[in-house]
Amino acid sequence: MSAEIKTFSKLSISQIILMFINSPHLTLLKNIIFVFVIYRYGRILLNKLAVQGFRRTLDDLYKIVGSKIIEVVRSTPSGKAKIQGDLDKVIKGIEEKFAPKEEGIPRYINLPDIGFDNQKLREELKRYEGNQDANWENGRVSGTVYHGGREHSKIISEAYAMFSNTNPLHPAVFPGVRKMEAEIVSMVLKLYNAPSSSAGTTTSGGTESILMACKAYRDWGKNEKGITEPEMVVPDTIHAAFDKAADYFNIKIVHVPIDPVTCRVDTVAMSRAINKNTIMIAGSAPNFPHGIIDDIPSLAAIAKKYNIGMHVDCCLGSFLVPFLEAAGFPAQPFDFRIPGVTSISCDTHKYGFAPKGSSVIMYRTKALRKYQYFFAPEWTGGIYASPAMAGSRPGALIAGCWTALMRLGKYGYIDATKKIVGCTKKIEAGVRKIDDLFVFGKPLVSVIAFGSNTLNIYNIGDRMNERGWSLCSLQNPPAIHIACTLLTVPHAEQFIKDLQDCVNETKSDPNKNSEGTAAIYGMAASLPDKSIVNEVACGFLDALYSV
Ligand SMILES: *Cc1c(COP(=O)(O)O)cnc(C)c1O
Ligand SMILES: *[C@@H]1O[C@H](CO)[C@@H](O)[C@H](O)[C@H]1NC(C)=O
Repeated sequence: MSAEIKTFSKLSISQIILMFINSPHLTLLKNIIFVFVIYRYGRILLNKLAVQGFRRTLDDLYKIVGSKIIEVVRSTPSGKAKIQGDLDKVIKGIEEKFAPKEEGIPRYINLPDIGFDNQKLREELKRYEGNQDANWENGRVSGTVYHGGREHSKIISEAYAMFSNTNPLHPAVFPGVRKMEAEIVSMVLKLYNAPSSSAGTTTSGGTESILMACKAYRDWGKNEKGITEPEMVVPDTIHAAFDKAADYFNIKIVHVPIDPVTCRVDTVAMSRAINKNTIMIAGSAPNFPHGIIDDIPSLAAIAKKYNIGMHVDCCLGSFLVPFLEAAGFPAQPFDFRIPGVTSISCDTHKYGFAPKGSSVIMYRTKALRKYQYFFAPEWTGGIYASPAMAGSRPGALIAGCWTALMRLGKYGYIDATKKIVGCTKKIEAGVRKIDDLFVFGKPLVSVIAFGSNTLNIYNIGDRMNERGWSLCSLQNPPAIHIACTLLTVPHAEQFIKDLQDCVNETKSDPNKNSEGTAAIYGMAASLPDKSIVNEVACGFLDALYSV
């Protein structure tokens, strides 16, 4: 990673801001900006104060002022050139890392004139396969591949191959796939103790399940409550898919802080953030960053009181949370047995061990599911209706998912839960023994997040990376996490040993802080204006399409 990191650490935007802030000539301008901000955003700030507290509101005020300043700096020729120059360097580094153009390796930029024969195709496929980072098989990657067993992959691939031509958009042509999909939804609904009135659909993944729930609540709010400027209230720790839904579907999103000790969302603040435009609230079981299950019964009670939707994000909890009790671990209520819970998303492609591209979205009532559907009754192409985002869908994925569920069965999942959650508990106990680290809340499932008050946690993560571990970096506050999978199970002791070593190394050489992930997140945290972070992220996405 070093190339882009070095340029990253040289990025001097925050220095420019500091110069600006400290310049005596600009006091008047600063005051004008400040008054403008208070005037323009006063009411919003008061609301924020009630929900997010003083510190966060102050931080956000700083961000608003900071963005204005960056806007000013970027509009000057020298500021623009300087920032653009730095950005270009960073983005070039990213491209070299993710899309290297290696000598002697063919790049297919145009369609081949004459198609390849099977032998040539196999050779090429092998080469692309060899390109993969094989790390995941050694069990050192957080999340990503959840089962990875050869026998399991083999039978799923068989199912895949058998159904590769199918498309559930045409149920008359592929009745078997329709039946499989209905059965998947039914099995998952039962797993989440859904009442007989309940209903659901499959989707392409957790993000689509969440997008669909938010869209359903938006249309429900409009139709049944006349809400035309919908808002949703979610914990800080909710998955970014909710921000995506807000962005796609024009829903205002309000984030609520978590309790610093339990790391569950502050339900009082959550309640305060609800107003007449609120269509839904949400909680996670568990959340992605810290693996903590929110207080779902309290959230559901709030939702019931205001007659709004309550979505439980079980995308990650998927096939672990429903089996915690049976596997002999402490559990927390999370499913349709709680009266106010109106929808749940569950990713079959995570701990359900289905192939990637598979999730289930569930609703308490059929009436709610109807708001997810799309209808185009007058289309020239015929009366059109589709259940979720996609039109045509891969029946192969449904067959693969069905095969995974039927292969494992209830006892298979209980066994997997014992292994995976057991591994997480081992790792948790080990992390708690390391003086310089602290664990976020009391994780009950498969993710454990930790930070440090004395050392730079990203630095520790980078050192783990050097030892072959691929962990997940978190921010606000800085932390890293590991999501245990079946592949992690045999490596819990090794993880703790490596982690202790990395902590010791970081203690004896703390000056690594200016490099690696520490530099990236240090820089990102110091920037009040995230448009620059977005531009780097955009460079990253662009690089993915570089041939
Ligand atoms: C993985 C995940 C999602 C959705 O992610 P996809 O990558 O779209 O499947 C949503 N919420 C949580 C808590 C998750 O861990
Ligand atoms: C790391 O430091 C701790 C505490 O200082 C010590 O007990 C331990 O032996 C060290 N571990 C290694 C692997 O150096």
